Amino acid sequence: MSKFRKFFKALKLIIRKPYLLNNVLNDESVLKEDFQGAFPGLALKQIRLLDLMKSEEVIVSPYAFLSGSSLATDFALLQLLCRQYQVKDYLEIGTWRGESAANVAPYVDSVYTFNLGDDQLLELGLEKNYVDSHRFFSKKVENIHHVFGDSQTYNFAQLNKTFDLIFIDGDHSTDAVYRDTKKMLSYLKSDKSILVWHDAKKDTEYPRFDVLTGIYRALPKEMHAHVYLVENSLCAVYLPFDVASESIELNRLPRGSFELALKYKSVN
Ligand SMILES: C[S@@+](CC[C@H](N)C(=O)[O-])C[C@H]1O[C@@H](n2cnc3c(N)ncnc32)[C@H](O)[C@@H]1O
Repeated sequence: MSKFRKFFKALKLIIRKPYLLNNVLNDESVLKEDFQGAFPGLALKQIRLLDLMKSEEVIVSPYAFLSGSSLATDFALLQLLCRQYQVKDYLEIGTWRGESAANVAPYVDSVYTFNLGDDQLLELGLEKNYVDSHRFFSKKVENIHHVFGDSQTYNFAQLNKTFDLIFIDGDHSTDAVYRDTKKMLSYLKSDKSILVWHDAKKDTEYPRFDVLTGIYRALPKEMHAHVYLVENSLCAVYLPFDVASESIELNRLPRGSFELALKYKSVN
């Protein structure tokens, strides 16, 4: 098909189905250009999960291997950060099955995990099975506190708490990440507190520019130098100190590997 015919076909489709415009606006190359336009000269940096692990063994548990779950390395990262930086109070936006909450719970004093309530999820038209899967792994864990609401409007001051590590993993649209991040800055316990964002990468190598735009827009400029993508994971972190980092290199040869030992655990 000629470029000319393609253009008119696409135009006709967009007029008939205007939501198709989102496919253009959300195209990765467009999002990347938007990001580079908003933050000219900003070079993304990454840290290595392997550096954080040193020789430590990490047991990721629970891990359901179900659709939409975070990666095992994301949970390993959260555990390692909690262990190495003596995190006592942990907050996350986005509970879902409670897997991230249950993974960090053994290493911290308290886990606060925040999510839209079941009624809110049902009102949004989400499937009952999906709604019922919320809190599956976290509901019986003693030091996990479930809090309900819409993170965009909820007043977190009523928790009367600040946190050593906040994991942002709720709505991943640029505006929502911007608002969640901006809001969470007020609930960091000290200048040593850490932020982690999930889905700041499309996969373990490629940055996700819609989420990164929300992150960098929300953070004061002086914090930008301490935002790092984490190799082998889908996360970005804000670490308020200097750590060894490197520039992003796509299609790099593996520089190490992990060994996974799988063990089946019944949940009843
Ligand atoms: C990706 S899941 C969280 C996964 C979980 N952190 C884990 O790794 O096991 C995102 C969750 O955020 C919730 N969510 C989305 N938008 C929200 C909002 N505005 N306020 C509160 N929760 C929200 C969804 O209901 C969903 O359960």
